[in-house]
Amino acid sequence: MKALRLLIAVEQARDKEEQRQHERQFGVSLGMDAEPEDSIDEPRGTSDEPDPGSFTHRFVLDVRAHPPLPRPTVHYTEDSALFALRREILSQRTFSIVKPDAVRKGHTGAILAQIEKAGFKIVSIKRMSISKAQAEGFYYVHAARPFFRELTEFMSSGPIFPMVLEKDNAIADLRKLMGATNPAQAEEGTIRKKFAASIGENAIHGSDAEETAAFEIGYFFAGIELK
Ligand code: CMP
Repeated sequence: MKALRLLIAVEQARDKEEQRQHERQFGVSLGMDAEPEDSIDEPRGTSDEPDPGSFTHRFVLDVRAHPPLPRPTVHYTEDSALFALRREILSQRTFSIVKPDAVRKGHTGAILAQIEKAGFKIVSIKRMSISKAQAEGFYYVHAARPFFRELTEFMSSGPIFPMVLEKDNAIADLRKLMGATNPAQAEEGTIRKKFAASIGENAIHGSDAEETAAFEIGYFFAGIELK
């Protein structure tokens, strides 16, 4: 299924590239409001200037009115198109926070290194502190839980590093890399096993689903920070 989607995407990329080449050459888009050639009503090639009012005349005027802008030449090979499309189609973004306990203990660098080594691209990251009210807004889904106060006080107790990460299957893969919420139950080698002290102070947060990731990314980052 994925392979089929990729093939379709490659075909679409080829079509797009054809359109771009046409635009570069003629200054207009392919199939904008063009009619099939055999529906053009004037005899062709008889004069340099087509009949005023005819489709060809309007087309030529259009081309003259919109001279092509200088554009860089883009060479697409099948491999590079596949690479770009693979990234576009299969990659997923997730949201993560290096929590105050890990920042205080100086584990930020090691945690980021482990994340990058696992193949995540850090799309955006910043160091900041949040207020208790901001932590409450972020964790609003846990508002009714007994640990809500402890959690929001902890999250506002010192600097954190919120970040947006990208890779294929990013959400599930980050959760695997983090390990269980309670570090006592986390697998060997996971971030929480190595760097977390308790379920409350567990070094790192990661989104648990696509909708959550969308909300959490938007809570901390503006679109302009997410190129
Ligand atoms: P996180 O992945 O950031 O999402 C919600 C957080 O609530 C979780 O990590 C834990 O840090 C915290 N949490 C979950 N259960 C408990 C608990 N029983 N006591 C304290 N904190 C908890």
